[in-house]
Amino acid sequence: MNPTYEKLMNCYTCVRNKTSFVPKVALVLGSGLGDYANQIEVESELPYSDINGFPVSTVLGHAGKFVYGYIDGIPVVCMKGRVHYYEGYDISDVVLPIRLMKLMGAEILFLTNAAGGVNGSFHAGDLMLIRDHISVFAPNPLIGANIDQLGTRFPDMSTVYDKDLQQIIRDKALENRILLQEGVYAQLTGPSFESPAEIRLLRALGCDAVGMSTVVEAICANHCGMRICGISCISNLAAGMTDTPLSHEEVQSAADKSAAGFKKLVTEVIRGFRQENLL
Ligand code: HPA
Repeated sequence: MNPTYEKLMNCYTCVRNKTSFVPKVALVLGSGLGDYANQIEVESELPYSDINGFPVSTVLGHAGKFVYGYIDGIPVVCMKGRVHYYEGYDISDVVLPIRLMKLMGAEILFLTNAAGGVNGSFHAGDLMLIRDHISVFAPNPLIGANIDQLGTRFPDMSTVYDKDLQQIIRDKALENRILLQEGVYAQLTGPSFESPAEIRLLRALGCDAVGMSTVVEAICANHCGMRICGISCISNLAAGMTDTPLSHEEVQSAADKSAAGFKKLVTEVIRGFRQENLL
């Protein structure tokens, strides 16, 4: 058996020995956004370290566990903390949790992250609907033997971020008077922040926000047939756009600025999935 698939199935067996919960929505909480887990009517929690073979995050502020529960009666699995490529994991391990949540039953993947604003009209604290992404600076998580049980060798990428889900996010932001930017997110490997010249390069390429996650997860979820949507919290303007040096602490504390709008929007959007009969 393909070793990546074998590892995934071992993790799945391990999860199923601990919980029979079947989520419909998988929610990944980015840096500083883990608090959202408090909105969930928790059924159970599973620390990543309790899953044999599961990559365990080392980054401060990425407490690693699955939270299973309900948002307005809708079964969700929430990743409180994700694993990043810059921590040194194989890229197949970085996306393992996404595949695992799909195996648990999740049909929709809701990705969130903290990101640097590259678009000059953005402000720290803005929320941005991810319309598309740029993956060319990150390793492709599908490299290696294709896992035919999950998806096709050459997946189409023309609408990774589901149009219906995008519209729900737009509508809910408008209804709730939450300012919503839109744009293209680029994933770089990190862990160093970008240089000002790299940010100018990204802007020239049509990128609006930059971060160190999300895109590889979206590629993998698209491969295994999930419907995907994503929101970036613009925690800072990217390098060279202000005089302030960037720090992880700033990224985390800036997430607080958008926390209220973020929480409201995520809950309303998940309700919206049901209102639009997508679940
Ligand atoms: N660059 C990369 N990743 C980030 C940033 C940034 O400016 N802010 C939050 N995550």
